[in-house]
Amino acid sequence: MHKVYLANSDTAFDVSEGETILAAAQRQGLNLPFGCQSGTCGACRAQVTQGRVETLGEPPALSPAEREAGFTLSCLARPMGEVHLDLHLPGAFATLRPQLWPARVIGKCWLAHDVIGLSLRLPQSERPLRWLAGQYLDVLTDDGARRSFSIANASGSELIELHLRVVPGGRFANWVAHDMPLRTILRFEAPLGAFFIRGDTRRPMVFMAGGTGLAPLRAMLQECVQRGETRPMTLFWGARAQRDLYCDAELRELSERCPSLRYVPVLSEPDADWHGARGWVHEEVLRQVPDIAGHELYMSGPPPMIEAGKRAFTEAGLDPARMYYDSFEYAYRTFPVANAP
Ligand SMILES: Cc1cc2nc3c(=O)[nH]c(=O)nc-3n(C[C@H](O)[C@H](O)[C@H](O)COP(=O)(O)OP(=O)(O)OC[C@H]3O[C@@H](n4cnc5c(N)ncnc54)[C@H](O)[C@@H]3O)c2cc1C
Ligand code: FES
Repeated sequence: MHKVYLANSDTAFDVSEGETILAAAQRQGLNLPFGCQSGTCGACRAQVTQGRVETLGEPPALSPAEREAGFTLSCLARPMGEVHLDLHLPGAFATLRPQLWPARVIGKCWLAHDVIGLSLRLPQSERPLRWLAGQYLDVLTDDGARRSFSIANASGSELIELHLRVVPGGRFANWVAHDMPLRTILRFEAPLGAFFIRGDTRRPMVFMAGGTGLAPLRAMLQECVQRGETRPMTLFWGARAQRDLYCDAELRELSERCPSLRYVPVLSEPDADWHGARGWVHEEVLRQVPDIAGHELYMSGPPPMIEAGKRAFTEAGLDPARMYYDSFEYAYRTFPVANAP
């Protein structure tokens, strides 16, 4: 039996021999962030500040730089003695336990040729769903599968907005786009994940999205604007062509309203009349923010973009502890922990 202490809290818990840190935390009713439970998504990333852990295998979610900086994945880590972990979580996280929720689909529209927007109305409740901007939900489908989608708006509303990419062969998104009637009730688990703004520094923030990776960043930016954030913020949004920039007008308007926000769309296959930035979005970030090491970085979108970003920004000197991300992995088998309300 080994003791694990969590930084910036009074929480300590026991981990049995052979047990992972996440499994032990869940067994004892603690709310630690997680996703895939298989080393792929990085949602359970934690920094070992004292002691040693054994991380099973070579999980893809941990880059060499993250390993070097002492990060592990609690879903695969076993303590080798007493361990102190820093999860880099705000105090509010502990109170936001994932639960099962029903919600009615009250709006559905094509935002771009392959992106559908959904609006879900939450049930009236004395304890309404709250989330940290950037978190996601898992829709539970009738056949027992799960599909993860980021919540695209800030908390505090009775509506949840989602941006779903509709790809050929994508089962859930195609059903939503072509067959699901309005007023359908969807069931989901929320709030999930550890992708949200850390307010503990005054560093300027860079946001980098690829495609529908914009969804959680849109929620974060809405929240920043609502609370009058004064830290400089730059949003880089990578897409193929102009028709993929499905929130372009809204983001331009937001950046005009908020003097500390700059918005840079970046196209990898630009139209002939495009005068903006072109190429890979992470390369444009480094072109425009060569001092990235002094920033805090939030990125979300396709796994190859996240991998490329992690590599490039680490080489440019950014501490992995200042890099937060949600990698939009395709559906994997996840394991529910929620208790129905
Ligand atoms: C934390 C998290 C948050 C996410 N947030 C969002 C979000 O806000 N919006 C969003 O659109 N997606 C998001 N995703 C990705 C989404 O969960 C997956 O793409 C999911 O598989 C889509 O379900 P589906 O049933 O439509 O497709 P599936 O039936 O699961 O996919 C079938 C096949 O289609 C291909 N495929 C599926 N999705 C994609 C894709 N996006 N790009 C290219 N090929 C694909 C794959 O080959 C896959 O095997 C998120 C993923 C994670 C882990
Ligand atoms: S990497 Fe641990 S939960 Fe996904």
